[in-house]
Amino acid sequence: MSRGLTTQAELRLAKRMAGLGTETAFEVLARARSLEAQGKDIIHLEIGEPDFDTPANVVETGVDALHNGWTHYTPASGLPELREAIAEEVSRTRRVKCTAEEVVVVPGGKPTIFFAFMALVEEGDEVIYPNPGFPIYESLCGFLRAKPVPLPLREKNDFRLDPNELADLITDRTKMIVLNSPHNPTGSVLEQQDVRDIAAAIGDRDIMVLSDEIYSRLIFEGEHFSLMSIEGMKDRTILLDGFSKSYAMTGWRLGYGVMRRDLAQYFSRLMTNVNSCTASFTQIAGIEALRGDQSSVEHMCREFKRRRDRFVERINRIEGFSCRVPKGAFYTFPSIRETGWTSKKLADALLEDAGVACLAGTAFGAHGEGYLRFSIANSMENLDKALDRVESWVKKNL
Ligand SMILES: Cc1ncc(COP(=O)(O)O)c(C=O)c1O
Repeated sequence: MSRGLTTQAELRLAKRMAGLGTETAFEVLARARSLEAQGKDIIHLEIGEPDFDTPANVVETGVDALHNGWTHYTPASGLPELREAIAEEVSRTRRVKCTAEEVVVVPGGKPTIFFAFMALVEEGDEVIYPNPGFPIYESLCGFLRAKPVPLPLREKNDFRLDPNELADLITDRTKMIVLNSPHNPTGSVLEQQDVRDIAAAIGDRDIMVLSDEIYSRLIFEGEHFSLMSIEGMKDRTILLDGFSKSYAMTGWRLGYGVMRRDLAQYFSRLMTNVNSCTASFTQIAGIEALRGDQSSVEHMCREFKRRRDRFVERINRIEGFSCRVPKGAFYTFPSIRETGWTSKKLADALLEDAGVACLAGTAFGAHGEGYLRFSIANSMENLDKALDRVESWVKKNL
């Protein structure tokens, strides 16, 4: 018999949810899509994903895998053959011996961030992370009630972190340091000496470093150098890498963490609790991505470099904008201080009036004020069109 309930049940949310942030890129994308639904033409330079297709050999391998019955669970940490292929790749590229037991395969780049925080960070622990930086690091500090310790990245230092500033921020309560090179949103790349200085600043403290190297294959100048390559740092490093950016596989959800074996077991347990495993056909495709033909990655990287050169050259000719040359990833991060506008207001105006979707620098933290992030993962034709629109908007409005 119905009791004739008249009130809606109260949502008794756990307190921790109040601290959880988000990624503005997805919100701006939703706003851009709703403007498109009203008939507006929008150029999408807000979202961070390659506009290229996943390489054909990888797609075919994934499709074959589905037909061949790779539709069941795998071990929580990933298929042994994929973990082996990743261990080989990491040993070669980071020049440090790494074994399959140190690899945990996860669905994308983000789970390694989440699991690192969940496994290591407790309420009140201090976490140092780059600001501007990928917003998920700060979000998870809020979620876990850790103390966020933003490390400012400065334009005058090409947006590379200053190891002396890092050293000053380290205290007895520092639990984790997050590094990200190549860097989202600025495209900065840490130099080998920077990484050595960072290692020296950490010294022999029991601090874990989450080294987010998801853009490691997308470098235009110089070479990628990982903290993991430095003697004594392997035990203190959780390496994050994956397939989303390098192989244009954002929708496949495939990434990995590489870490000491004792910690890997806890990551595996988190996988069991959260995902059971990463999709099995995706993992089979991942083996092909790593072991098969690499020419698509090289092509994509060359193409991003070409677009970067054009974009930076052109945006620097627009009044009020000035842009450093990013050395990696696929973002540009021009200063807009000279316009006198705040980042958010200008990003909103460019979306609403000029039909160009980009992100306010503040989407990446307070130190992003005065900047905009434009993704260059769009065709040269669209980038040119976007720049034409920004240019004429600036002429009319500034
Ligand atoms: C620095 C950084 N880390 C991690 C990720 C997450 O990657 P995924 O989409 O594979 O979860 C991104 C994606 O934009 C990123 O920019």
